[in-house]
Amino acid sequence: MLVTNKELQSDATANGYAVGAFNISNLETVLAITEAAEEEKSPVIIAVTGSTIKYAGLDFIIPMVKTAVKKASVPMTLHLDHGADLEICSKCINAGFTSVMIDGSHLNFEENISLTKSVVDFAHPKGVSVEAELGRLSGVEETTVEEKDAILTDPDAVKEFVERTGVDALAVAIGTSHGAYKFKAEPKLDFERLKDIRKKSDVLLVLHGASGVPVEIVEKANKYGAELGKAKGVPNEAIQKAISLGISKVNIDTDLRLAFVAATREIFTISPKVFDPRKILGPAKEAMKEVVKGKMRLFGSNLKAP
Ligand code: G3H
Ligand code: 13P
Ligand code: ZN
Repeated sequence: MLVTNKELQSDATANGYAVGAFNISNLETVLAITEAAEEEKSPVIIAVTGSTIKYAGLDFIIPMVKTAVKKASVPMTLHLDHGADLEICSKCINAGFTSVMIDGSHLNFEENISLTKSVVDFAHPKGVSVEAELGRLSGVEETTVEEKDAILTDPDAVKEFVERTGVDALAVAIGTSHGAYKFKAEPKLDFERLKDIRKKSDVLLVLHGASGVPVEIVEKANKYGAELGKAKGVPNEAIQKAISLGISKVNIDTDLRLAFVAATREIFTISPKVFDPRKILGPAKEAMKEVVKGKMRLFGSNLKAP
């Protein structure tokens, strides 16, 4: 069943858990995410970026996701992650997405409002929910954002932004960033800021850049030849605290990529005679599925499917 993020996040907010949004890029990621959701009896958000659309094509992505959704008994959404403009949002909506993110975080406040509102005006009459971003995460967004250009979300601006745009959900910047190198020193999120945002608005809240970058997966990848240096992610306890303060959607991409690369590197190394793609990608899918299942338990979305 395809539903909207608004439906999933409203239930999550009311019941103190969060729904995971996991990025897909191919068949294996779709299978890993949807099989995990089914086994954990968890709602899930299937997230697609503009670069995945360029890579795989909407005409392949949509039937693939719809087939997986049809086989599942848990609610899922098909969500555009970091939509760059009204054009890609409307294209995805017309093609059957049930939720879109418009990422105007690189714009000034007024421009972000006007772009976000144009997407809301297009999406809402079609029953599609909209997420926007206020503040700016460092790391890879629509373009790469240097750490010095990252801006934490101003709690005082949230209410006005939400009222003037009519947006359903808001991605907030509280110290996370995209990718595998989130913190140079000890991980630190600005929970006071998150509390203040929650106090000032009841918009549904989203945490991007939430991968944990598990040490054991990084070590396994490095053991088999990866060079992941000082990779560091968001600790599990910080994710749980963020959820307790109102985050109802948690975005994960990097942890799936790391699991994929560790699993494939291991096979290439320990089974040098293997050249059947299914014997390489099958275990990689299983490794990603284990990561997704673990996240669902961490976010408390397991056993929450109606
Ligand atoms: O924030 C989204 C991703 O982690 C970056 O995804 O490489 O598909 O654009 P992308
Ligand atoms: P990570 O890079 O931490 O997995 O974040 C993914 C994300 O925010 C996708 O929108
Ligand atoms: Zn993101």
